Amino acid sequence: MKILLIGPPGGGKGTQAKVLIEKYKIPQISTGDMLREHVKKLTPLGQKAKNYMENGELVPDSLILDMMELRLNDKDCINGYILDGFPRTIPQAEGLDFLLEKLNHNLDNVIIIDVPDDRIVQRMSGRRVHLDSGRVYHILFNPPKKENIDDFTGEKLSIRKDDEEGTVRKRLDIYHNTTKPLIKFYDKKNILNSINGDDEIENVSKEIAKILNNA
Ligand code: AP5
Repeated sequence: MKILLIGPPGGGKGTQAKVLIEKYKIPQISTGDMLREHVKKLTPLGQKAKNYMENGELVPDSLILDMMELRLNDKDCINGYILDGFPRTIPQAEGLDFLLEKLNHNLDNVIIIDVPDDRIVQRMSGRRVHLDSGRVYHILFNPPKKENIDDFTGEKLSIRKDDEEGTVRKRLDIYHNTTKPLIKFYDKKNILNSINGDDEIENVSKEIAKILNNA
């Protein structure tokens, strides 16, 4: 099962990926989480990526593709994976095609999670994250059991630096101009499905399950 989730920043890709991990026992590959880990560990890649990320800009394609080539060669990818936040440009999608061919992998499903911009801005202001695991909460829509504490580790939750409204609006512009052309790219391959992401988390999960069960 090789699934690609595409959607605006804050569209719920990470939230839904966590549901799919449980269901299919395959890894979530989130370029955002991987980059944040590099930034935290002060790796050479992290040092290059930090400013782009904090400003809400995309990290250059070549850095992302090198990072993904290494990741897709990991053993845990053999039975499938959920790509979350990659590719998000046409050159990245072309690079992914090249990598998939080399690995003899096929994408089974590309799912677009559609959410209006104003709803995104509202969601991001309430997002809280557990940085080490990538677990995502929302103070109203998906609160942790104990305020500001991760359900599993008991550690404190954080607010992402790029969740400030101005940065979110910039990320949305980039999504509309640079990432949305991927819809046409994958539509031509006949593996594209679009769902309404402006609904309760459980209902969005049900829509995704319907698509995957019919695949
Ligand atoms: P990344 O971490 O991938 O950010 P993003 O794509 O902008 O997506 P988010 O993680 O912000 O949101 P999400 O869709 O996962 O939503 P979530 O589930 O958290 O990337 C960060 C940065 O890294 C980029 O800006 C860029 O600089 C760089 N980068 C990463 N990948 C790159 C690439 N391939 N190329 C170049 N640069 C790259 O949900 C959001 C909130 O809403 C949460 O609080 C959640 O609880 C809540 N929520 C979720 N679903 C619902 C619902 N249905 N109803 C109500 N609330 C909901």
